[in-house]
Amino acid sequence: MNGIIIDLQDVLSRFTFDTVCKVSFDMDPLCLHSTMPVSCLVHAFDIATQISAKRATEPLPLIWKAKRAMNMGSERRLREAIDAVHESVMEMIQRKRNSGGDDLLSRILTLSDKDEEFARDMVISFLLAGRDTVSAALTWFFWLLCDHPDVQQKVVEEIRSRHEVLDFKGLQELKFLKACICESMRLYPPVPWDSKHAKNDDVLPDGTLVPKGSRVTYFPYGMGRMENLWGMDCLEFRPERWMSSETTNIGDDFVSVYKFPVFQAGPRQCLGKEMALMEMKYIAAFILSRFELRPVNDQKPQFVPFLTARMEGGFHVLVGKSKS
Ligand code: HEM
Repeated sequence: MNGIIIDLQDVLSRFTFDTVCKVSFDMDPLCLHSTMPVSCLVHAFDIATQISAKRATEPLPLIWKAKRAMNMGSERRLREAIDAVHESVMEMIQRKRNSGGDDLLSRILTLSDKDEEFARDMVISFLLAGRDTVSAALTWFFWLLCDHPDVQQKVVEEIRSRHEVLDFKGLQELKFLKACICESMRLYPPVPWDSKHAKNDDVLPDGTLVPKGSRVTYFPYGMGRMENLWGMDCLEFRPERWMSSETTNIGDDFVSVYKFPVFQAGPRQCLGKEMALMEMKYIAAFILSRFELRPVNDQKPQFVPFLTARMEGGFHVLVGKSKS
């Protein structure tokens, strides 16, 4: 196959950064332009998230706490990266303040009046929530499809048979594609684990006491691979498990969020879930209907559970125009 080699994980990460900025703040940082250098904000953001996630893997929390107190090593780099993120986001806010727009950031600025720190933290939350999650989900989705050509063929057939234009209604009809996306997030959840800290003494629904100050972690990566939740074939990529006989019941509507807490469950569920699913379907349908992807490396990639999951070393693929 003729084509070019790209790191799909990197391209998707650039795309989702541009998208979350455009949709939420009506700004396009143009990260997808391959000729543009990686912006200071993206660079600092990546360093800050990586070092923060590595804190959780330190055998003794005392180690990073000591480094933070002495402003040394990784904790010093983290502080510098956070300062750089704050500076870039404050510049975005200053530019936005005078633009009189109607986007989410303009509304946050109106609501928060002069509280710029609140607005800054909201921007950072949206960047963190909307960028790496979607790119991680798509990276693993494309890898799984390359690894299962029969499933990929079925997805391509569905895309070609159902849509003329990739509009909202057309995307909603791509039910097998949605099943594949859910199945890939079951095995490779973008947020592999997530912790909550008890502000006060609390009790879990099963009666377990949670003393003030303790940490409770739920683990979607582990839950997605449990035999008693998903059956004997829990380690297999089998999108059909997300389809019911009723055609309206599909994907994450078909399975309880407490069994599949990839977007979390309860009152603090992900606010961007529907947007994320739409964005992923759009990108998957657009790429698969036009291009063929062939992984450069035939070894099984490694899952790296940072704050959001990554594929170790990126996902290098040969991209060529689809024949049919
Ligand atoms: C596949 C993609 C995504 C996944 C797997 C995902 C997952 C999650 C999870 C697990 C949480 C709970 C975090 C916690 O409480 O600690 C969350 C919260 C949130 N997500 Fe997403 N997310 C995705 C995409 C998005 C997108 C595209 C946006 C918006 C641009 C978004 C916006 C949010 C917001 C605002 C919250 C905070 C909700 C709250 O605290 O009430 N997410 N997401």
